[in-house]
Amino acid sequence: MASYRDSHVGENRGLQYDATHASKVDALIWDTFIKGLVAREAKACASGGGCRYLDFACGTGRVLKVGQPYFSDSLGVDISEDMLAVARHRVPAADFICADITRDRGAAAGEFDFVTIFRFILNAERSLSMDVLAWLAQHMPAGAVLVGNNHMNRFSFRGIATLISNALFGTKLNHLSRGEVTRMLEESGFRVRKWSGYRVLPSCRGKPVFGRTVYGALERFLHTAGIGRIGSEHVFVAERV
Ligand SMILES: C[S@@+](CC[C@H](N)C(=O)[O-])C[C@H]1O[C@@H](n2cnc3c(N)ncnc32)[C@H](O)[C@@H]1O
Repeated sequence: MASYRDSHVGENRGLQYDATHASKVDALIWDTFIKGLVAREAKACASGGGCRYLDFACGTGRVLKVGQPYFSDSLGVDISEDMLAVARHRVPAADFICADITRDRGAAAGEFDFVTIFRFILNAERSLSMDVLAWLAQHMPAGAVLVGNNHMNRFSFRGIATLISNALFGTKLNHLSRGEVTRMLEESGFRVRKWSGYRVLPSCRGKPVFGRTVYGALERFLHTAGIGRIGSEHVFVAERV
C-alpha cells in the first residue's frame, strides 16, 4: 500500500490542492467556524506565555496563516516541497522545514507550545499518525496545546454514506469516530479538553447543496442548537499531559 507520505508530492500539487478546496463545503466550514476556533486557542496559548508554534503537515499554509500572528516563532513542517511552495508565499513570516519528522526525527528541534494538525489523522495510515503523535508528544511540554481535526466522523450522514459506499461499491474511503481519535491521542500522551462538531448537512460532491449563504446559516443554526455532534467534521483541542 502506498504511504500517505506520497499523497501530496508532485508538480503544482499545492496550487491544485487550494483550487480543489476553495469552492467546497470544507472551505465554508473552515471560514465559518474553525478558523475562529484556531485563532481563539492560539490567542489563549500566547497570552498564557506560549511563544513557539508548529503547524504539522502544514500543506499550503491555510492553518499556519491563522496561528502565526499570535506567536513570535512559527514553523510549518511538510514532506511536500510542492505544497510548501504555496505556504511560503502565503505565510512569509513563518519558517518552513521540508521533512518527514518520523524518519528524520531531528529535522525540527526544540519544544512547541502550540501545535496544529489538520486534515492528517483521518487519511494517514495508523502507524504514521501514531509515529507523528509520539514525535509531537516528545516536542511539547506539559500543558502545551494540540488542535486538530477528524474530517470524516463515522457517526454522521456523510460518515454513513461512506460506510455504505465502502460496503456496496468497494470504495476504501476513510472514516474515524471521536472515540478512536481520543484513544489515539490518549495513548500518545494527550488529554482532550474539548471536541466540537460541524458540517451536519449533506453536500453534493463536496459542494453546498443550497448555496453558500443558506448552507452557512443552516450550519450555524445546527451548531448553536447543539447538533454538531452528528456533523462529519470534528475538531479537538488537547493538551500534553
Ligand atoms: C490534506 S493535506 C493538509 C494540509 C493542511 N494541514 C491543511 O489542513 O490544509 C495533508 C498534508 O500532509 C503532508 N504529509 C503527509 N505525510 C507527511 C509526513 N510524514 N510529514 C509531514 N507532512 C506530511 C502532505 O504532504 C500534505 O501536505
